[in-house]
Amino acid sequence: MTHHAPLFDDDFAQRFETLLRWRRDVRHFAPQPVAEQVMADLLAQAVLAPSVGHAQPWRFVRLRTPGLRAALADHVDEQNAVAAGEHAGHARYDDYVALKLHGIREAPEIMAVFCDEQPLAGHRLGIATMPEMLRYSCVAAIQTLWLAARLRGIGLGWVSILDPRTVTAMLDVPPQWSLIALLCIGYPAEPSDKPELEQRGWQSREPLADRVFER
Ligand SMILES: Cc1cc2nc3c(=O)[nH]c(=O)nc-3n(C[C@H](O)[C@H](O)[C@H](O)COP(=O)(O)O)c2cc1C
Repeated sequence: MTHHAPLFDDDFAQRFETLLRWRRDVRHFAPQPVAEQVMADLLAQAVLAPSVGHAQPWRFVRLRTPGLRAALADHVDEQNAVAAGEHAGHARYDDYVALKLHGIREAPEIMAVFCDEQPLAGHRLGIATMPEMLRYSCVAAIQTLWLAARLRGIGLGWVSILDPRTVTAMLDVPPQWSLIALLCIGYPAEPSDKPELEQRGWQSREPLADRVFER
């Protein structure tokens, strides 16, 4: 199986680094739609992600109903208002409020990602001691989707200021599915190699040396 493993040359390595640097959490979208084939390609690449026991516990719910989108946007607006209140004393409070635009009304595509907590695939391998590995596997798929999207000039915004129970109920999914992410997907209004939170002075990138430990 490994006879013809591809080699990734220096040029590819550099471009891969560029892809990583330009992957962004996007909150402002151009109106241009994402072609259906492109969405299919993105999902096909997302599921190349690793998963515990090869359980592939990710479940993608694409939002097709305008009324549902409106209800979701209203819900996230409400939750944002609550969260903003929690930051009321913060020096960058106004920035916070400006930042927390979510894009649910504007993004061409909205997709929720759920984790099937009792997947048949994988035969429960690897999750006896750490069942949360199923959820981590879903995050791996989202990260893969994120990069696959950016490769095509498409941005993704991860919206998590919401009440997962409310959103799960709205989307009417099986009871063993837990919400991992609500994603806005579309072409970014302004591509950037710098996180918006850095651009706005909320939080800069921390030195790597502060994040790596040895024992
Ligand atoms: C698990 C997760 C949840 C996130 N939730 C939110 C969110 O609710 N609202 C938001 O504005 N950004 C959210 N983000 C985006 C982060 O703010 C963003 O990734 C970070 O600022 C770094 O920017 P970058 O992704 O453009 O590099 C989330 C990111 C992750 C990985």
